[in-house]
Amino acid sequence: MAGRIPQKFLDDLLDRVDIVEVIDRRVKLKKTGKNYSARCPFHEEKTPSFSVNPDKQFYYCFGCGAGGNALGFVMDYENVDFPQAVETLASSLGLEVPREQTRPGSPQPGREETGKPLYALLEQAARYYQKQLRSHPEAHRAVDYLKRRGLTGEIAKRFDLGFAPPGWDNLLQALGASEEQRKLLLEAGMLVQNEAGRSYDRFRDRVMFPIRDQRGRIIAFGGRVLGDDKPKYLNSPETPVFSKGRELYGLYQARQANRKLDRVLVVEGYMDVIALAQHDITQATATLGTATSQTHLERLYRLTPEVVFCFDGDAAGRKAALRALEAALPCMEDGRQARFLFLDEGEDPDTLVRKVGSDAFRELVRRATPLEIFLFEAVSEDLDTTTLEGRARLSKLALPWLRQLPEGVFRQLMFRSLAERTGLTVAELMQLEAPPPALAPGLTDGAPGGPPEGGGPKRRNPSDRAPLGYSNLAQAAIALLLHQPDIAARVEVAAIAALEGEDIVLLRELLALLQRRPDSNTAMLLGHWYGTPEGELLSRLAGEERLIPREGIEQQFIDTVEALAQLPQRSELSAQVDKLKATNYAEMSEADKQQLRDLLKEKQRLDEARKKRQP
Ligand code: UTP
Ligand code: MN
Repeated sequence: MAGRIPQKFLDDLLDRVDIVEVIDRRVKLKKTGKNYSARCPFHEEKTPSFSVNPDKQFYYCFGCGAGGNALGFVMDYENVDFPQAVETLASSLGLEVPREQTRPGSPQPGREETGKPLYALLEQAARYYQKQLRSHPEAHRAVDYLKRRGLTGEIAKRFDLGFAPPGWDNLLQALGASEEQRKLLLEAGMLVQNEAGRSYDRFRDRVMFPIRDQRGRIIAFGGRVLGDDKPKYLNSPETPVFSKGRELYGLYQARQANRKLDRVLVVEGYMDVIALAQHDITQATATLGTATSQTHLERLYRLTPEVVFCFDGDAAGRKAALRALEAALPCMEDGRQARFLFLDEGEDPDTLVRKVGSDAFRELVRRATPLEIFLFEAVSEDLDTTTLEGRARLSKLALPWLRQLPEGVFRQLMFRSLAERTGLTVAELMQLEAPPPALAPGLTDGAPGGPPEGGGPKRRNPSDRAPLGYSNLAQAAIALLLHQPDIAARVEVAAIAALEGEDIVLLRELLALLQRRPDSNTAMLLGHWYGTPEGELLSRLAGEERLIPREGIEQQFIDTVEALAQLPQRSELSAQVDKLKATNYAEMSEADKQQLRDLLKEKQRLDEARKKRQP
């Protein structure tokens, strides 16, 4: 296998290609102001929301959130992997792609320079498990199991199924030759360490399901027992390359099998995805033992206009459907559709498709309940909508859900539909929609019995902005950095060294990278994290020009980082103030009173300083 492509070459390459040229060759661009625009090639749209920034050499779509640098564009547009995209761009400049020599036996380093050899290791692990499925003396048990479940060798291969043999240290022996390798195996979640510090294989005597990210890199595994032992499935823990709340099992294979995804099914289990593929239904994905999140759905709606959820017909399935509904509402821009398919109790897509065959299954999918019907069904459950009282309740229950819909025709139609169902006019509903007058609380909050499922979605009111917490501040700082990378030199990483949180970690990594390589431009930064969850956030933030002031970027950046550094102190202060306030003022000692006054003054000072910074 070819060696790694040197980071230096990638940086040079991004420096030399012009993203406008690269994209224009594939999608005709129009100049609009200092940027270029087009109708987005990654989702269906009528008006262009795809924009290319020549200064910063990245693209971003305000419609679907796709974004990245020239390499990323080629990967997504041509559906090729990273090295292929590098080849494409390099050859357009007449360049030869250099490769670094790798020592034989050493792991193949991943493409990200900063310590993501995890990908290579996980790939090796997958290959190891596959090999065991072919040749381990016990493999026949796993093979028989898969056959009994109706899978052919071809499908097993498409999903890279493998076998973790019985025993405590098979993988450890096979891949943990050096201390460094063992450390990586642990970091990748493939080993577990007991209290005595001894490591052993996490997955033992299980059928292995490698989980790939959107780019096809293996990032984690699921392992199923061959019999009825518990737990039935074991999954990789969260690791630097795996976050289960974002990933969808089978999405990579679905994209490989379909040039265009006119719909995607979301099912519950690994085996559902695979059994459907076995029956030639190749557009199924599964969440990984978690509820469907908005992140999942945003990702899916970038690729397809329609998502169909399949749930068990039992109470748990119904509950899961409500959560999916809640996650789906904010994503329901015009042109997108969500449907809900409820299976009979005790049935899952795997058992069903094997029973009725693919045609009948497809027909069920086509007839799945559209979101608008499911929503009204769910909120009118147990209501008698023939009475005035029942209809009033319906509007109260439905409004918090409808408010989650983004502006658009669909939202209007939903309000109209609610109006028809309740006998109110849309205008009257809109009045219910408005924030409640101060003395009449509870009218629009649906206080007792809001949406089903204990309160339902939180109201998002543009005026009650989230408090500027860690994440907002960190993201604001990141946006500024992406806009003007050279300001990194103006702050000390040490000031925020003690803070925790994903975004802060990313901010620190950005700063560290920029202090190491001060010449990096926005495209290089995006390239550095390309294809990772962080990369998605970076692309989105790079596209958020509204976070960037017209002038004084540098000062704003310094202030933001300072505010961030002060946050722990602020919350500490608040806690102290609360504690003192809890004591009866009259009973306080004079010293305590003085302390409270001082604390309040300090808090006010910090608050004011913060307010000044807030745009
Ligand atoms: P299911 O039990 O519905 O999965 O759990 P399945 O694929 O239908 O299982 P079998 O093989 O047909 O019996 C749904 C998903 O929940 C997670 C897995 O992601 C599984 O695919 N899960 C389930 C676990 O993580 N651990 C478990 O013990 C069970
Ligand atoms: Mn099942």
